[in-house]
Amino acid sequence: MLLLILSSCLCAATFVVNVTQSSYEAEENHSITLEWTFTTRTQGSWKNLFIICEFRTSVKSGVIYVHHDGDEFPDSQDDQFSGRVQSDKDVLREGRIRLHVSRLRTEDSGLYRCNMKTEDGFNSGRCRLNVTAAADQIQTQRPTLTSEPERGRWTIIVIIALGVISAAALMFLLCYLVVKCCLPVDVYYSDAKETRDFNPLIV
Ligand SMILES: *[C@@H]1O[C@H](CO)[C@@H](O)[C@H](O)[C@H]1NC(C)=O
Ligand SMILES: *[C@@H]1O[C@H](CO)[C@@H](O)[C@H](O)[C@H]1NC(C)=O
Ligand SMILES: *[C@@H]1O[C@H](CO)[C@@H](O)[C@H](O)[C@H]1NC(C)=O
Repeated sequence: MLLLILSSCLCAATFVVNVTQSSYEAEENHSITLEWTFTTRTQGSWKNLFIICEFRTSVKSGVIYVHHDGDEFPDSQDDQFSGRVQSDKDVLREGRIRLHVSRLRTEDSGLYRCNMKTEDGFNSGRCRLNVTAAADQIQTQRPTLTSEPERGRWTIIVIIALGVISAAALMFLLCYLVVKCCLPVDVYYSDAKETRDFNPLIV
């Protein structure tokens, strides 16, 4: 009996869940990968592996990820994270839990804890995520800074284009007048035909 208690305590102690980083910083709309490590077995993988990852923010708490023996349960996930969490099931064999959270929101800031239960014990690891709204300020500033020189550049291009077009039109008119006044009638006709063919290219 004592041996049984001792051995179960020993096993519980040998199953460890760690965080690779205790705190993460990210910007709104960016994505992040939260990672935990846990004790792997020397032979085979854990049976009855149960993972439940939870979050707690200043507003609410809930479930972000559930895994049981190779199956994921997206229905258990809180709406706040629906469609935004991807896990890497392949790395579970290496003793890692990787949750990729995309399109971060400032309200995602908070604590993230993964609880794990195996036939040999239970353990959990916790990290903190801080999502800042810095990108918002940069993005609202940038358009006002870039649009003015850009608008100026376009104005110059339009002015140059108009100048070129009016110069070409003037040249055309001049040639036309010169041809009409100075050349014999038959030459004028052939020339006019040529310029008429040319006309769409200029305009
Ligand atoms: C957990 O962290 C401890 C202390 O840093 C380390 O000794 C141990 O190897 C880690 N275990 C796992 C499974 O990452
Ligand atoms: C989150 O990050 C911002 C900007 O770096 C910092 O001012 C704030 O104190 C951080 N909050 C927490 C809870 O770490
Ligand atoms: C984040 O993405 C949403 C939707 O794509 C957009 O409306 C919002 O302006 C973006 N915020 C920032 C800070 O980029």
